[in-house]
Amino acid sequence: MSLRQRKHRHIEVCLEGDVEYARRTTGFERYDLPYRALPETRLDAIDTRTRFLGRELSAPLLVGAMTGGSQLSGLINRNLARAAQRLGLGMMLGSQRVMLEDPAARASFAVRRDAPDILLIGNLGVAQLNRGYGAERLREAVELVGADALALHTNPLQEALQLGGDVDFTGLVARLGEVVPAVGHPVLLKEVGHGLSGAVAASVREVGFAALDVAGAGGTSWAKVEDLANHGEVRHPDLVEWGIPTAEALLEVRHAVPAMPLIASGGIRSGLDVAKALALGAQVAAVALPLLAPATESAEAVEAVLARFVTELRVAMHGAGVERLEGLSALELRAR
Ligand SMILES: Cc1cc2nc3c(=O)[nH]c(=O)nc-3n(C[C@H](O)[C@H](O)[C@H](O)COP(=O)(O)O)c2cc1C
Repeated sequence: MSLRQRKHRHIEVCLEGDVEYARRTTGFERYDLPYRALPETRLDAIDTRTRFLGRELSAPLLVGAMTGGSQLSGLINRNLARAAQRLGLGMMLGSQRVMLEDPAARASFAVRRDAPDILLIGNLGVAQLNRGYGAERLREAVELVGADALALHTNPLQEALQLGGDVDFTGLVARLGEVVPAVGHPVLLKEVGHGLSGAVAASVREVGFAALDVAGAGGTSWAKVEDLANHGEVRHPDLVEWGIPTAEALLEVRHAVPAMPLIASGGIRSGLDVAKALALGAQVAAVALPLLAPATESAEAVEAVLARFVTELRVAMHGAGVERLEGLSALELRAR
């Protein structure tokens, strides 16, 4: 299967299959935002604006890294980008390896025309650093799409279940230490839905990442996507449920690297989840799967989902009696 075909198959499986964790949850349900019946706030004065990686966001919300490569991905990316532009939110692109290896795939990643002002984050797999990619290639990925930063995804579980996946993750921490500072743009590290632990965050403390995206368990399971894409069924029922729940990953990583900007993703399904993620130490949250089907329809359909998240976040802040995002970060969540 070519890279392009595999990307298309991933989208098909995510649109049609049940690709979310069935038994493992994000852990957000174990926490309550303290509800305040006399909040002393006015809903229309709630301010969700923030800055992340040097760009202004109207709310701490990013379109999660998804796709690129095929014609359908081009449509998906355009709709995601237009919605992000209209709402003043950020966007992470899907893996750009396909466009670096096949220039015909570049058009599907060209979203800057539709979204000139958004925080745009490019994407490549960290395992490519063991396959000849260096700082030059990473810089090219950022600059070809006019991105502000580059996210490197690390996904040993997914790759291990992928037919012909990258299985050599040796020496990568040292390699990251050489390559990341030479890229000349901010570089992030993310998982793809099985979670970064505190130990992993600590191991890359000196690398010079601009932010970490914990991409924890409880939402889309990429091990499950691979099983369904390759076999049409779940062949490894325990492995596809493996990972660090997003809330736990956030707490661990926040503790390990207190000053590091963090993105919360993996199973973020409401504005209340976003509020809890910020209270647990994230600066912004990212949402992937819930935007995929709307993105095959229209920018308006994507906008409607993202607008619901923002409304819910605003209501959550009002109900908790905090007017600004810093207030949310200062809240103590109640464990259930
Ligand atoms: C269709 C689809 C394609 C994805 N492709 C990528 C990718 O190319 N690179 C990456 O880092 N993450 C990719 N992801 C993972 C997401 O960025 C995210 O980490 C994961 O899906 C968990 O978030 P969710 O539960 O909101 O879907 C993809 C997710 C989806 C749904």
